[in-house]
Amino acid sequence: MNERNSLRNVNGRLQIGGITCSEVAKKFGTPLYVFDQVKIEDMCSTFVNALNKHYGFGMVSYASKAFCCKEIYRLVNEFGMGADVVSGGELYTALSVNFPCNKLIFHGNNKSYDELEFAVQNNLKYFVIDSIEEANLLNDICSKAGKIQQVLVRVNPGVEAHTHKFIQTAKVDSKFGFSIQDGTALEFIKVLTKMSNLKLVGLHCHIGSQIFEKLSFVLAVEKMTDFYKEIYDSLNLSLEVLDLGGGFGIYYNEEDPKLQLCDYEEYVRVICDTLLECINTKGIKKPYLILEPGRSIVGESGITLYTVGNVKEIKNVKKYVAIDGGMFENPRFALYQAKYEIVSVDKMDEKSTIKYSIAGKCCESGDIIAEDVLLPETKSGDILAVLSTGAYNYSMASNYNRNLVPPVVMVKDGKCKTVVKPQTYQDLIRNDL
Ligand code: LLP
Repeated sequence: MNERNSLRNVNGRLQIGGITCSEVAKKFGTPLYVFDQVKIEDMCSTFVNALNKHYGFGMVSYASKAFCCKEIYRLVNEFGMGADVVSGGELYTALSVNFPCNKLIFHGNNKSYDELEFAVQNNLKYFVIDSIEEANLLNDICSKAGKIQQVLVRVNPGVEAHTHKFIQTAKVDSKFGFSIQDGTALEFIKVLTKMSNLKLVGLHCHIGSQIFEKLSFVLAVEKMTDFYKEIYDSLNLSLEVLDLGGGFGIYYNEEDPKLQLCDYEEYVRVICDTLLECINTKGIKKPYLILEPGRSIVGESGITLYTVGNVKEIKNVKKYVAIDGGMFENPRFALYQAKYEIVSVDKMDEKSTIKYSIAGKCCESGDIIAEDVLLPETKSGDILAVLSTGAYNYSMASNYNRNLVPPVVMVKDGKCKTVVKPQTYQDLIRNDL
């Protein structure tokens, strides 16, 4: 466990945000997403301060796909951050709490006409263009609305980040962006600069997710600034904005480093120093720098609590612990074989000597949360916590098997508040005719 003040073992019981986890489970029921607000706040201020200190000209934009609900937009807004949205639904959620539109960035590789129109009506800061068709659509919509929209182009710098292959996005073979290497990015930029209602102000790349290797970010900065120089030299166009995406890794299990706040500052420092150096050596204009952390802002702050239903032993094979959740609220093992640390919240001082696989309650053998994790002897009624579930768990939850998506509770200073209500069976049939 990457212990901190707000997530620790107190006399054998796991506490989050000053409350014992089993108390939270008793009060709200399980399965339950619990977020430690202080950890989110610490991550926000770390990124914001680091960017100010080491570069002084840019914005930290929260990647809302990691965890999207009204409360997270309210929180990141308090830190003066921007946010990126990738769908009409995320945009709608941000607007519902009056998130400043001039700090919203619209991403996505195939935005629909309706989504683009909705975003244009709401005066978003930047649209990140990912195809010629999208550029044409947006240009038409802006022309009808009598607007000139600032846009970035998503490019693929071809940097390979070390992470699970499904979440790599910037290798040469990627559905995202225009490749710099094969010249399509430059060709597209030439076309874009002729569009009357779009103003190209910069470029965006996102080289992957759950990255620990600083060199990946350094390479991305080098390749992107090389390209800024090439654009200047060949088109006499000086781009003003550089959006480097997100991707900073977090601690999931013992294979990952336990990063502290100062380590995240160090990532930002390395990116900023590399960029400043490239600006000097390549003679390009200092761009407004955007970073888009998602997972690192919310990932470690979240845990999921479950109650054990039964424990089943298959002689000489394995022991299964069946929990009251599963792939409907955490599909990441099924999708990526993601590994998590799991603890028994009231047995923190007992030795973890027995190997269990943690099975969900969906009618599917692939519905597993973890394979072969060590726990103390586990019985029906025990409360388990899966750690570091704050990112891409609630946001990828579904109603598979018509299970209810659990509520989300945020804790701070020993107090809990519900930020997403529990679903009800009525919610499940609301749109059925
Ligand atoms: N910006 C862009 C354009 C992105 O595509 C992403 C993530 C981010 C920022 C934020 O990256 P982060 O800081 O969270 O690594 N569902 C997968 C993760 C997919 C990430 C996709 N893009 C998972 O559960 O691991």
